[in-house]
Amino acid sequence: MPAHDSRLWTIDTPNTSYVVAVDEHDRLRGLHWGPRLSPEQALALLDLPDSPFRPVVGREPRFDLGAGSAFQYGHNGLQVRFSDGTRDLELVFAEAVEEDGDLTFVFTDRHYPLEVRTRYRSHPGSDVIERTLALRNTGTEPIEVVRADSATWVVPGLDAPRLSQLHGEWGAETQLTRTTIPYGETVIGSRRGITSHQANPWVAIDDGEATETSGPVWSTALAWSGTWRITVEKGPTGSVVVSAGFGHDPIAIRLGGGETLETPIAAGLHTAGGFAAAASAWHDYALAHVLPHPDEVRPVLYNSWEATEFDFTAEDQMRLADRAAAMGCELFVMDDGWFGARVNDRAGLGDWTPNPDRFPDGLGPLIKHVHGCGMRFGIWVEPEMVNPDSDLYRAHPDWVYHQPNRRRSEVRQQLVLNLARPDVAEFIHARLDELLSQNEIDFVKWDMNRPFTEAGWPGDEDPDRLWFDHTRNLYAILDRLRADHPTLRIESCSSGGGRVDFGILRRTDQVWTSDNTDAVDRIAIQDGFAQAYPARVMGAWVTDSPNPLTRREVPLDFRFHVAMAGVLAVGGDLRIWSDEDQARGAELVADYKRVRPAVQLGRRRPLRAGEVTGVQYDRGDQTVVLVWRKARSFAYPDPLLKLHGLDPDARYRDERTGRVHHGAILALHGLDLGLDPADYASAMIELTRLP
Ligand code: DGJ
Repeated sequence: MPAHDSRLWTIDTPNTSYVVAVDEHDRLRGLHWGPRLSPEQALALLDLPDSPFRPVVGREPRFDLGAGSAFQYGHNGLQVRFSDGTRDLELVFAEAVEEDGDLTFVFTDRHYPLEVRTRYRSHPGSDVIERTLALRNTGTEPIEVVRADSATWVVPGLDAPRLSQLHGEWGAETQLTRTTIPYGETVIGSRRGITSHQANPWVAIDDGEATETSGPVWSTALAWSGTWRITVEKGPTGSVVVSAGFGHDPIAIRLGGGETLETPIAAGLHTAGGFAAAASAWHDYALAHVLPHPDEVRPVLYNSWEATEFDFTAEDQMRLADRAAAMGCELFVMDDGWFGARVNDRAGLGDWTPNPDRFPDGLGPLIKHVHGCGMRFGIWVEPEMVNPDSDLYRAHPDWVYHQPNRRRSEVRQQLVLNLARPDVAEFIHARLDELLSQNEIDFVKWDMNRPFTEAGWPGDEDPDRLWFDHTRNLYAILDRLRADHPTLRIESCSSGGGRVDFGILRRTDQVWTSDNTDAVDRIAIQDGFAQAYPARVMGAWVTDSPNPLTRREVPLDFRFHVAMAGVLAVGGDLRIWSDEDQARGAELVADYKRVRPAVQLGRRRPLRAGEVTGVQYDRGDQTVVLVWRKARSFAYPDPLLKLHGLDPDARYRDERTGRVHHGAILALHGLDLGLDPADYASAMIELTRLP
């Protein structure tokens, strides 16, 4: 809301205020991002002697818009080049428009035909503020947009600012690291065409002293599934700005006359109360304002990939379906290898018709069998890809990204289709629509197994746009399929967790977290994932022991208990599981179903006691504790596990033992877990708050 004639506005959320002002040079400045301020308090920001609102030449001003000054030597989130070569922007403030809860600042260039709109949006009940940028070329000559970050967030002065980020690799996604921020610019991002396994578009800043349960945290996440960058800049005086946007160096966007460029959402969140409170606020935001079906709990699925890989018949799938149904699975997903000549990874991608040897009568009999078992039916696709050994590639070798006179680098014997081309996007949509219309498919696992290389589009006058249009067209296809097949649910996968972000989550129902299903490795992957994304979307399979990737042998209960912290699924070869493991698996699936609403929709709190780590999920009267301990030394018994967020005056019944505990004792002294002293001990504890 604007504060009288001062050109100062506050965006208030339930617990925070973000205060911006337009200064005498028409620059939009971030003055405050933190606890709620009254209008009078917000106005007093203008009187601060050290106010960033008083730009001093030679001192790095703190920008919110990130543009509009010839004296900007720091990071600049908005950079354009006009057709005559001019680069500097001179923006003039036109107006601030408040509409439907949005606050939009409109600027126009002093000379050139460019309009810049920065839009803030907040949602009732959430402390997340969404920011986007829209650039409109109001002239006729094209403008080159070199960089258009969605938001530049100004973090208040901190003594020793620290950065939390999620880095990783295939099989080791979302590894959480916290490091002191160095002076200068720290840039993370992806140039791969996808969100990437290597970095996730989320960061958090704290004063170096926040813990899971205390301290202020400022975080931001970018809702985009193509290339991206987040720049964290610590200026010479220690101030920190965080800028997030799509695209990567050195690609640029050509904005033709009359065209508008809309950036994806960069969401910002300030929280008090430590990292767990920040994570929980992101989860609430995802559930309330991002996911398409937020109130649904995800079914326990069975996925056949690790069991069969490429070597199966329809009968093999049916046998697996029988075993999965007996264990209590609710959705059966047939993975790769069902179509075209896809009997290994060398052929068939792009040819989305059932393999005639494996499915002589089409998919109908298998789907009928799966439905007859009481499960929904899901299927794997990788629509953005083609094997050179495929009918599609033979017919359209020009449909892949490529450059003249350059080799076409293959990864896993496949190339990336140029989804930016409208005819290719139309073709892919038509094939998928046909598959979904002709078969009773309830669920699609949409995979994307390799990054872009030689990302060219010969003949197109603006080939850089492929980096943006690929993702836009992917989103458009997903949106269209969902609109036309309203009961369809979708999983985003990219060789595991290579496409996990709030952009894809807007149009999918869950994600495949990692190809690494080793329960021990999964603990760190899931902890990192949970910094931003809720358990409700975190696919977690129980697979065989020893694990096919790591060869680690881990007991069944431990594998289940780790997977039960997310969307529980089974992905092992049930044909070789012992009857005992099948029966125990069925018990654990039943346990999970009892606590599933709390896990998937409740509040997550990380737990630790000695060598024991775990998570607590709370919803209504239900508290679920999942704990695991890899190993302990003989003389160091597990300490009691302190629970968080309970009502100290309430009593809680342990549904395993019937024992009743006082909330105060659970919080101050802890719960005796009674874990087996052997390695890989684990447990699920269900507590019910008594009336
Ligand atoms: C990569 C995925 O992450 C796996 O789960 C599996 O679907 C394979 N692709 C199939 O090729």
